[in-house]
Amino acid sequence: MIMRYILLSLIVSLALYAKSGEEIFKKRCSSCHIKYIAEIKLIKNYENENRDLNLTAPTATEISFALKDRVGDRSGDIESQLMDIEDFLISYCNKPDRDKSILDDEVLINFDIMSPINLSEDEAEALAPYLFNLSEEMIVAHSVKRYSYKEALKKAKRENKIVMVEGFIRYCRGCMKMDREVFVEDRVKEALNRDFVVVKKNVLKEKLPFGLKSIGTPAFYFITNDGKKLIDMIQGTGTVDEFLGILDEIKKNLKNKKFLKIKS
Ligand code: HEC
Repeated sequence: MIMRYILLSLIVSLALYAKSGEEIFKKRCSSCHIKYIAEIKLIKNYENENRDLNLTAPTATEISFALKDRVGDRSGDIESQLMDIEDFLISYCNKPDRDKSILDDEVLINFDIMSPINLSEDEAEALAPYLFNLSEEMIVAHSVKRYSYKEALKKAKRENKIVMVEGFIRYCRGCMKMDREVFVEDRVKEALNRDFVVVKKNVLKEKLPFGLKSIGTPAFYFITNDGKKLIDMIQGTGTVDEFLGILDEIKKNLKNKKFLKIKS
């Protein structure tokens, strides 16, 4: 009961922070920091010395990924990482300094250093979870829809599609890279929407189909829509074109009835 209460109050307070965090961001940061631009466009823009987009500052989503990956202990518990992020925000905003920078040099080279902003502890406490969650929120908003495994099987059967289960863990850099650079791209979304139904599973917390053991992350398990056969499983990261190549390969394998033996 106590655990439940603590959990509930944590969720409620996170929700409150999320709201005021967004307001503070709008008021104090959004005049320079745009929320989201697709990664492929950003990479091109920085290669062209910021001439495509003429950004005043890096996007908040870029900052969100960097905070998650580079501030505090990313594999520890979220609450303590959020506290480290809060400290970092206070320190950076009040006294910006390249020695504290968390973004890549290729990004930073395009901007003058930020002017100091007086950020209070309360504001930082609200901004930390907002910025921490923003990258995931933006990726979900710009990627293909994900389903539960059960829903995915139903939908795949109805629409004659293949189920793709994506295995991830929270602090997996390769998973972040795929989310940022591959899954939000239109060509990938179209290919997935046409022939696949996607399920996302945290392999530390959720079971994989057929009791499969995780082969590392990110990993992609392709399953027939009767839920009985494993077409293939692939681990690692790749470019948009490489990933599209894999999807074609999977469709060919299904056509040729080429399956993997299931070892659980
Ligand atoms: C007047 C424009 C402006 C405003 C307002 C602004 N920033 Fe920035 N910010 C920048 C620029 C330019 C950079 C890139 C240069 C740098 O890193 O200092 C930046 C970079 C950052 C970085 C990355 C630091 C690094 O070097 O890796 C963080 C974190 C950040 N801003 C947080 C905030 C927060 C939080 C707010 C609102 C409370 C805010 N900024 C408001 C212009 C601004």
